[in-house]
Amino acid sequence: MSTKIAIIGAGGMAAYHTTGFRQAGAEIIALADVNKTAAERSAAQYGIDNVYTDVAEMLRALPELDAVSIIVPNKFHAPLALQALKAGKHVFCEKPPALNAKEAAAMKAAAEKVKRRLMFNFNNRARPESYAMMEHIAQGAVGTINTCQAKWIRRTGIPGFGGWFTNKALSGGGPLIDLLHMIDLGLYFMGYPEPAHILARTFNDHITDKSFKGPWGIPDVAKGVTDVEAAAHGFVTFKTGQAMSFAVSWAEMNKREEVSVTFQGTKAGGMVQRLFNYDGIDDTAIDTCELYTHEHGRPVNRNIIVPPDAPMGRVRSAINFIRAIEGDEAPLNTPDQAVSLMKIIDGAYKSAATGKPVAL
Ligand SMILES: NC(=O)c1ccc[n+]([C@@H]2O[C@H](COP(=O)([O-])OP(=O)(O)OC[C@H]3O[C@@H](n4cnc5c(N)ncnc54)[C@H](O)[C@@H]3O)[C@@H](O)[C@H]2O)c1
Repeated sequence: MSTKIAIIGAGGMAAYHTTGFRQAGAEIIALADVNKTAAERSAAQYGIDNVYTDVAEMLRALPELDAVSIIVPNKFHAPLALQALKAGKHVFCEKPPALNAKEAAAMKAAAEKVKRRLMFNFNNRARPESYAMMEHIAQGAVGTINTCQAKWIRRTGIPGFGGWFTNKALSGGGPLIDLLHMIDLGLYFMGYPEPAHILARTFNDHITDKSFKGPWGIPDVAKGVTDVEAAAHGFVTFKTGQAMSFAVSWAEMNKREEVSVTFQGTKAGGMVQRLFNYDGIDDTAIDTCELYTHEHGRPVNRNIIVPPDAPMGRVRSAINFIRAIEGDEAPLNTPDQAVSLMKIIDGAYKSAATGKPVAL
């Protein structure tokens, strides 16, 4: 019997979730959103029969639901995931996992208690480049990754002013928590080592300058709050001796938007990189997936060729959730990893606020 799933949140990501769930053979039986108009519009767009404005009512009305997919502002990830898990549903939750590590740990504990899958949409792990690179890493071609540089740097990429993205109480922060994908991907390649210390700085330049707005995001809210960073840079050490540096921004004056993980292993270095145009237009993107070795006394560059994937794994990651529930694939991420990632994000904000290194 096919998995029955409901979408919570009618935002832009619902298009990828619905495509992926259906490709995996799941049935999308309901959509819930506090905004009735948005819920009805998206339900019609995606061909979903049942519409709710109250998640509790949906869970009561549809006991046959196996899973929910949470696509709402970050503040509501933990409460909605806890509500769905308590009702015995598997949960696929958009990134970031929660506002902080404490919330993520509560979600992990709830999933363990009811023995249900809790997975997060770290869609960059589901890109063809990441699957290919992980195969090389798993087969031992890279050795131990000593160091890694994780980057998601945007030039004019503020996702709206005064809406939930720029309101720390609703989002948990700016690009550091929003664009945490590459920090996650770097950790994934490194084997998710246990963090030891972090030193980070955040910067607020351009965060209220409307000419730094991205071509996507949500509408501006005239009297809304903008109290998040525009960029963050940091350095993380791990108990294993490994180290990672990161750079994330919504507004920094770089030539192109860069989404990348570069690493240096004991046997090979490597890079997974997407370069967007400065304003993030997909059809000019340049993708790279390469390994760097030293063979017969000379440097060698190996180009790993994979099919292009404009959605950056967003469809494939939804497919993985369904297959993981159904026992057909290993889950691409675990609640433990989500908690560890959120400890790094929490530590980065604490280090930036205190100006001091933070033990994790
Ligand atoms: N993986 C990715 O590439 C990616 C990209 C964009 C956004 N996201 C994530 O998706 C989530 C949603 O972002 P968005 O851009 O779609 O936001 P959005 O504001 O466009 O849409 C969110 C929807 O959630 C609804 N909503 C808010 N609170 C709710 C609640 N308590 N219960 C039910 N519905 C509620 C809103 O009415 C709105 O329709 C965020 O966590 C964001 O980080 C992920």
